[in-house]
Amino acid sequence: MKRPLKLFTIILLFFLFSQCRQSTEERINISSPDGKITVAFILNNGVPYYQVSRSGKDIIKTSKLGFAFKDAAPLDRNLILVGDQESSFDETWTQPWGEVKDIRNNYNELRVRLKETTDNPRKMNLVFRVYDDGIGFRYELPEQEHLKSVQITDEETEFNLAGDHKAWWIKAYQWNRYEYLFQSSPVSEIDTVHTPFTMETKDGLFLSIHEAALTDYSSMTLARKNKTDLECDLVPWSDGTKVKRETPFVTPWRTIQIAETAGDLITSYLILNLNEPNKLGDVSWIKPAKYVGIWWGMHLGIYTWASGEKHGATTANAKRYIDFAAKHGIPGVLIEGWNVGWDGDWLKNSDLFNFTTPYDDFNMDTVSAYAAAKGVKIIGHHETSAGIANYERQVDDAFRYYLRYGINTIKTGYVGHGQNIIPVGDTTGAREWHHGQYMVRHYRKIVEKAAKYKIMLDVHEPIKDTGIRRTYPNMMTREGARGQEYNAWSKDGGNPPDYTTILPFTRLLAGPMDFTPGIFDLTFKKANRPNNRVNTTLAKQLALYVTIYSPLQMAADLIENYENQPAFQFIEDVPVDWQDTKVLHAKIGDYITVARKDRNSDDWYIGSITDEQGRTLETKLSFLDANRKYVAEIYADGADADWKTNPLSIDISKALVDNTTTLRIKLAPGGGQAIRIRPATKEEIISLPRY
Ligand code: NOJ
Ligand code: CA
Repeated sequence: MKRPLKLFTIILLFFLFSQCRQSTEERINISSPDGKITVAFILNNGVPYYQVSRSGKDIIKTSKLGFAFKDAAPLDRNLILVGDQESSFDETWTQPWGEVKDIRNNYNELRVRLKETTDNPRKMNLVFRVYDDGIGFRYELPEQEHLKSVQITDEETEFNLAGDHKAWWIKAYQWNRYEYLFQSSPVSEIDTVHTPFTMETKDGLFLSIHEAALTDYSSMTLARKNKTDLECDLVPWSDGTKVKRETPFVTPWRTIQIAETAGDLITSYLILNLNEPNKLGDVSWIKPAKYVGIWWGMHLGIYTWASGEKHGATTANAKRYIDFAAKHGIPGVLIEGWNVGWDGDWLKNSDLFNFTTPYDDFNMDTVSAYAAAKGVKIIGHHETSAGIANYERQVDDAFRYYLRYGINTIKTGYVGHGQNIIPVGDTTGAREWHHGQYMVRHYRKIVEKAAKYKIMLDVHEPIKDTGIRRTYPNMMTREGARGQEYNAWSKDGGNPPDYTTILPFTRLLAGPMDFTPGIFDLTFKKANRPNNRVNTTLAKQLALYVTIYSPLQMAADLIENYENQPAFQFIEDVPVDWQDTKVLHAKIGDYITVARKDRNSDDWYIGSITDEQGRTLETKLSFLDANRKYVAEIYADGADADWKTNPLSIDISKALVDNTTTLRIKLAPGGGQAIRIRPATKEEIISLPRY
């Protein structure tokens, strides 16, 4: 009888012990305005966690929060709750320009204030905002006695996913920055990836993890620790530290968009809502625009940026582009390669770029006067090849130089390998990542400086977009993914047909992209590029102006390729500033149809694209005004069109439609369709056929 008694005692002692040890768990819930999404903040024995659910089902399982520091104990334990506050916010704000005019910012907020129980206690707050379309949360490290200078070695934020979802991603820490084709796999097969990181759950929900308002911090990538457990992985400084700051400061918002359809991810404005309102005051000088440019010729090898016989940016060529723009009502002309620095290997000689000295065959006085006389704006160009010291030394002069010539939009460029940034004044051989805190600071410095000079920016090889265009509306568009240029020279043959059916659900969730659509000579008849071509039909090139949002949109081809092309009418007509955006069909990697309403007229535009599979998509036009007749100007793939064998076949037609019409959008393999819908005139109502 001895043994059972002993066992009983052990159980009893264990029970009593665990009672006195008082395992504590505090939990505070906060839900979205529609009640569907709930975030729980949890303090378990002094360790902070959060958890996210939707309609009672876990989205993010209990996941850790906190920091590790270089010369101090981690701030992730021994914490007590000193206060919590809930509040609500509901406001509609207006974008000065954008994919939609008015945006509702409606959330419930929970702020928790934590303090250590140690002798020299430090303080940290967490703020959660819960929207109907997802959540955002961030850390605040207030001004305090025992935490002043901060060197973060790890932000311990976890995203422990509740399932092994299908995901679309590109790898982080690669030499070519963000310029990779997206891969698709279960979450359990990823390594370390960039954000936006988009997923589809088995229950048919769509999730995307990203960040908002990335300011003086390093970019977040996501590292997989366990099967489907992800952790924030901050891009480090060259000394291994992740972030260097002084208190007080706040981190960027960690965001999780949650949607019932893939299209709802696109019309979720959560990232913008989590950014600060416009800081620039009067922004009436900021104007979305289309442009052509001396550009594609260099990518095809017909022109060079460098001086010599094939130099593209000559006075004569610039005038030719200005003439074309004036004739076709295209507001802007980009001119690349006009300034000294391109001779030799410009990728290696960033110090040679001079941003105020033109080549001998380019006369800025003549060109800018010619453009002004024709009512065309020149778009300036600053290729830095990631030579930050050289650029920062000249940038004020360079901005003033452009302004002197009436140029207030500048495309910048930072071509370079992933981790090759030499910090200004460095003598130690340090090399910073393109996406670390050093460069986050640099890019912001340029945005702020440009704003001071009233200059709009289009940044190539940027850091990822986190919605700062809301705060700085002069930060208009950026590249930050493989663009059209890959079709001109990429060894892998360019962007495959499904590429642009993935972009809207991944990269474009971050913000606008200067993809540069509109190539008409799809097979490069005029260039010697036997292994390259554009892997779409002509109609798909037109549709991209609607499916890819950008306030600056290029008509990227050589202007001679647009002469006598009826399809160019669509590029002339399509706006770059929108009142409203609707996603009518969405299947990631397969197809997408987007309808947008012009901000300055009653016109609607539809863009529909497919991957390598042909298909027909039915679209109800119920969003049109009732009792009104419209003309649909349809740019469709020809009956025999096929991206591979017959990409140029296009059918342009007109028909009467109204809000009861159902369109049958027929897409060829690798094809697309672009439609302008405008109010019909009286004569058209009589003369045109019904759809
Ligand atoms: C890469 C940019 O994406 C491209 O548009 C530009 O022409 C080259 N860099 C040269 O600046
Ligand atoms: Ca596909």
